Amino acid sequence: MKLEFHKIRRLPPYVFEQVNRKAAELRAAGADIIDLGMGNPDLPTPKHIIDKLCETAYKPKANRYSASRGIPGLRRAAAAYYDRRFGVELDPNKHIVATLGSKEGFANLAQAISAPGDVIIAPNPSYPLHTFGFLIAGASMRHIKANSPEEYLAGMDKAIRHSVPKPTAMVLCYPANPTAQVADLDFYKEAVRIAKQHEIWILSDLAYTEIYFDDPPPSVLQVEGAMDIAIETTSLSKTYAMAGWRMGFAAGNERLVAALARVKSYLDYGAFTPVQVAAAAALNGPQECVVEMREIYRSRRDVLIESFTRAGWEVPSPRASMFAWAPIPEEFRHLGSLEFSLRLIEQAHVAVAPGAGFGEYGDGHVRIALVENEQRIRQAARNIRRFIEAGPNNSEPVISAGE
Ligand SMILES: Cc1ncc(COP(=O)(O)O)c(C=O)c1O
Repeated sequence: MKLEFHKIRRLPPYVFEQVNRKAAELRAAGADIIDLGMGNPDLPTPKHIIDKLCETAYKPKANRYSASRGIPGLRRAAAAYYDRRFGVELDPNKHIVATLGSKEGFANLAQAISAPGDVIIAPNPSYPLHTFGFLIAGASMRHIKANSPEEYLAGMDKAIRHSVPKPTAMVLCYPANPTAQVADLDFYKEAVRIAKQHEIWILSDLAYTEIYFDDPPPSVLQVEGAMDIAIETTSLSKTYAMAGWRMGFAAGNERLVAALARVKSYLDYGAFTPVQVAAAAALNGPQECVVEMREIYRSRRDVLIESFTRAGWEVPSPRASMFAWAPIPEEFRHLGSLEFSLRLIEQAHVAVAPGAGFGEYGDGHVRIALVENEQRIRQAARNIRRFIEAGPNNSEPVISAGE
């Protein structure tokens, strides 16, 4: 019997798992871990959305298989959102497909478009799915070191010229996970120009587009002609604090949407209808809740930057997303991001995501998620101050019992 599976050999264990395991171990021993690791929203889903879910769940046919492509009302709500937010007109029947979150949409898009040996361009560091989704689908990756959108574009030309065979798609993700970088419309114009010149599809992940702290981030579909080559996956997870609901949609080029819809038609029957109805209510309903959540993230960001700076850790202030992308303090940098993160959790009881989990060029950083309240972020900063003061040679906890 074959015990080594081809695909599994290409999937290293999730780097974050090591920190999660350590967190579980310490918690079991009674430690209070301040978890700034996973980007799992801690805010409650707004009440009117939950009410709509409950109301719909009681309807006689709610229990039946739903529509894999998404119920028409949800696709119409998604089109209305694109029109309102980006001034982009979409046909709900041709340009939109509902997904079980942005993650599932992106993963199945990778399945839909990749053939073995195809080359896909992705930034490094990146959200793991943006590379491993294609590796699972049998494609090969061309990584471009990209700590900013400018760096990504700068490396693109060389990557395309030196790829054999020529790339078939490029991945964009702004606001970015993990770097929290934001792209402007000029970036998207240039990306579309390059993609058209080389006949490359654009797959854009817009999961954080509503979590911003200055100008609203644009969509690639705003660029003239982008509909010829681009698709975007979008999510309700962060915008409406609905991560566990598994709801999102993909929008854009008709051929790409049809390809994704075709794959999905073999794999799923769509999200539970009440979830889709509630998602439509979220998109069509009052948006004050989104503004309120954004302000909470903004306040947390400000507290994090201010309190971490006072603790001796200079962290650049993110303009969007629910993350700060923090260079490892100089005296700890030689440890690398995994060892640094393990020591931080063991000694200071603060969990962060090691940058190496997002690719080799992420190893000098850790990602800090804004998923604990301000008081807890301040507590994390106090622990971190002691951790930094104790220095890289320390091996003892810096938290006193009961603190
Ligand atoms: C860039 C990016 N895309 C997609 C996702 C997953 O989103 P969803 O919950 O919509 O699947 C995440 C979640 O962390 C993410 O960071």
